[in-house]
Amino acid sequence: MSIHKESVKRVTTHVLSEMKLKGEKISMLTSYDYSMAAIVDRAGIDVILVGDSASNVMAGHETTLPITLDQMIYHGASVVRAVQRALVVVDLPFGTYQGNSKEALNSSIRIMKEASADAVKLEGGSEVLESVNRILSAGIPVMGHLGLTPQSIHKFGTYAVRAKEEEEAKKLLEDAKLLEEAGCFAIVLEKVPATLAKKVAESVSIPIIGIGAGNGVDGQVLVIHDMLGITQEFSPRFLRRYHNLFAEIKGAVETYIGDVKSKDFPNEREQY
Ligand code: KIV
Repeated sequence: MSIHKESVKRVTTHVLSEMKLKGEKISMLTSYDYSMAAIVDRAGIDVILVGDSASNVMAGHETTLPITLDQMIYHGASVVRAVQRALVVVDLPFGTYQGNSKEALNSSIRIMKEASADAVKLEGGSEVLESVNRILSAGIPVMGHLGLTPQSIHKFGTYAVRAKEEEEAKKLLEDAKLLEEAGCFAIVLEKVPATLAKKVAESVSIPIIGIGAGNGVDGQVLVIHDMLGITQEFSPRFLRRYHNLFAEIKGAVETYIGDVKSKDFPNEREQY
């Protein structure tokens, strides 16, 4: 039994599956640090993803490939310390689960022990099924990720919409069913045609959380830096910006610089 955070009813994988049954949409956003996660959690988000997009938006890498397991654990633990209600899912980074199910299990155990996450997420379908099964056999909840899987960017060669052709769409649907049968509690579906995403959501009993996958799925996820307008260059069609924080923060910093230079800050009330 938990010795703290008892007053707030936590979101669990079971709660998410009930939400799908009731037709209640699931809200999910990324966070990578304590302060942002506290805001996102108090706003009432259902799921916080500690995504390997931290590699892009926190570390400035071009792809998600360079981030390490130690770094994901650091971000995950920071987020978990802030969260009272949301389910916290931590991404397994590239190279920690593909092709070696024992390593996949060890990586997942580290995330659960050292970050105290609620679940892990990994990319792929049939190719990673052995790893999925092994992680699940240890009682660790697994979220799948199909469609555009950024860890495979060098295979795809582009971040364009996936599964537009029948063959890839068929494999994606089969993969979703495989992940469901294996026991995954949900699947992220990234950048695929809305009609296909709706079909996938209707074909499996576990929640499908979309990003660039239209409105026929069971929930939505965005990268928080993108939806708050902290990132500037990334502007795919699916992204709705709820703020222009880049401009707001820049404006505040410019005002501060001006106040320091003009000796307006600190004033008499702001000193001892
Ligand atoms: O790493 C991430 O932020 C993700 C989301 C885009 C779903 O996987």
